[in-house]
Amino acid sequence: MPDWSLEGELRKAARADNVESALRILNLLPINEQLATLSSGSDWVRGGAETYIFRFDVRTRSGLTIPAIIKAHTPAIGPRSIDESLSELLRRRQLLANGGIRTPSLYYAGNGIVIERYLPFSFVERFAEVPTQSADRFRLSTELVAIAIVLDEHGFAPIEIIGDLRVDESGDVFMIDFGEDLGPPNNRPNRLQNEQSVSSWLKQHDIQWSYEAIRNEAVELLRRRRNA
Ligand SMILES: Nc1ncnc2c1ncn2[C@@H]1O[C@H](COP(=O)(O)OP(=O)(O)O)[C@@H](O)[C@H]1O
Ligand SMILES: [Mg+2]
Repeated sequence: MPDWSLEGELRKAARADNVESALRILNLLPINEQLATLSSGSDWVRGGAETYIFRFDVRTRSGLTIPAIIKAHTPAIGPRSIDESLSELLRRRQLLANGGIRTPSLYYAGNGIVIERYLPFSFVERFAEVPTQSADRFRLSTELVAIAIVLDEHGFAPIEIIGDLRVDESGDVFMIDFGEDLGPPNNRPNRLQNEQSVSSWLKQHDIQWSYEAIRNEAVELLRRRRNA
């Protein structure tokens, strides 16, 4: 993309003629904040099998940083256009968000790209870093089981979910990939496929609590989120 620029992409997405208003329209710049800098560390890099990603940060004059990521959707050649395939991802994302799974704040989706909140930590790394018997470990386990429960409810049969889960500064867990690895929902129940796979993952990772205890808390967490 020789003529590509971050500023240009943001202006195009927001249909704005300058970057600051584009950021405001996209909700990347809060109402009472002014833009100080827009910075990007590296160029586009391959994300996974279906995306190229571009990281950037919005910094405000008051010192706030909003970390963001652009994902250009590049699905394998198939029967669907990029637009159709992107709408399908957004449908899955909405379905799971309604079920109580956290998904990153979405700033823009269209033209084959998604702009969303960048989540700094990988779930697997965070999980390994927190002490074995800590409340943080319990919380991460609970969030993982909650995600599995929701996926099972909709009959999703992902190839692997844990590797693409991300965690924010406050310890909340997010799902970020709604593409081919996740696959479509299915009306036929897949019983407890996802729960079984996360419970065996937890067993292999030195868990101090019974699966029942974690699951009860996960159900409670989902109940609270769905009533919120
Ligand atoms: N919101 C995000 N925050 C942090 N990293 C992300 C985010 N979205 C994607 N990534 C990174 O980019 C990679 C590829 O994105 P993903 O949505 O999984 O696409 P793919 O379908 O290509 O696997 C992820 O594995 C992750 O490392
Ligand atoms: Mg992925």
